Amino acid sequence: MKCLILAGGSGDSLWPLSRKNYPKQFMNIKEGRSLLQETVVRNMPFCDEFVIVTKESYRNIVNGQMKAFQSLKYRLILEGSPKGTAAAIMLGNMFCNQSELVFVVTADHLIEGQEYREAVLRGKELAKEGYVAAIGIKPTENASGYDYIIKDEEDVLGFIERQQFDLKSDSYKNKEYLWNSGMYIYRVGDLINSVKNISPELYNTCRSAKRRTPAIRRGIRFSENVMKDIPTGSIEQIVFSKNSIVKVVEAEFGWKDVGNVSDLDGFGSVTHSDYVIKNNCEDVSVVNNAERQLVVTNDLNDIVVVNTEDAVYVSSKERAKDIKDIIKDNRE
Ligand code: GDD
Ligand code: MG
Repeated sequence: MKCLILAGGSGDSLWPLSRKNYPKQFMNIKEGRSLLQETVVRNMPFCDEFVIVTKESYRNIVNGQMKAFQSLKYRLILEGSPKGTAAAIMLGNMFCNQSELVFVVTADHLIEGQEYREAVLRGKELAKEGYVAAIGIKPTENASGYDYIIKDEEDVLGFIERQQFDLKSDSYKNKEYLWNSGMYIYRVGDLINSVKNISPELYNTCRSAKRRTPAIRRGIRFSENVMKDIPTGSIEQIVFSKNSIVKVVEAEFGWKDVGNVSDLDGFGSVTHSDYVIKNNCEDVSVVNNAERQLVVTNDLNDIVVVNTEDAVYVSSKERAKDIKDIIKDNRE
């Protein structure tokens, strides 16, 4: 099976830890490895080749990080103008054989537990039967950062975006639902055929981009110009929400999309806890990434503080994600 890693996101939600030129998927988070490297290690038992779809400007970072895996076979698909996960997945598929199984994973997840293996193996079985297998996670808390899959056993009844999902509304009250992990397993030919039917625009523009682009060493680089007609959007919006061949595997492994700075409190590789003093504070996360700077908080509740050498972010926990919009136009 091939592993298609989506690694083109800009990771604004972790600013000031992640930067335009160095987003979260490349940050060292766990045991000295980046999230991208963790993703590779996690999937080595299932996949013999890796295809990494990322932004053109991240090429050197990715090649540098992949040096950690000497004999691993990998290819790079570079996007001059990222258009979201639908395009990234379709461009990735164009470099696989129709009969091949592909496992789409994202590069910003932390995963723990044996159940991961079981979920992947069940997904593989479904893919062999001609389905697109989505991996859904049993929710463990109230989370605002994930989309949902409404289901009945392994049948998918709908993909619901986080903004539309309201537990109290009658439409969801008696329904079974899972978090959408964004991971999918399928046979390439099956997915391509359904994209042809559901979104001929996505299919035709990606195919034409491929035809107009020569390969480079280790992969391919799609220029901004070649990508300009490809529709923007997520694979869920453009394809899977209209697709009857998707099934879902319910999984219970430990899973987190590192999407919020307060998720990183306690991760030794990003925070210097020796240089943090909290006095009379409740539910305060301090991520201190600046060496030899002391951060002191006093008499605070529900606050997140992120300190780096050249920028500091302080927010209520609840609204920490607003950073994405706040620094949209003037971020380094
Ligand atoms: N190559 C490429 N090009 N990668 C991309 C692009 C793109 O245009 N856009 C996003 N990605 C990558 C990101 O780097 C990340 O690894 C993954 O695709 C998902 O993108 P995010 O931007 O992190 O999306 P999200 O976390 O808000 O939502 C997705 O994940 C959730 C779970 O973590 C969706 O799949 C949701 O449905 C899901 O619940
Ligand atoms: Mg994410």
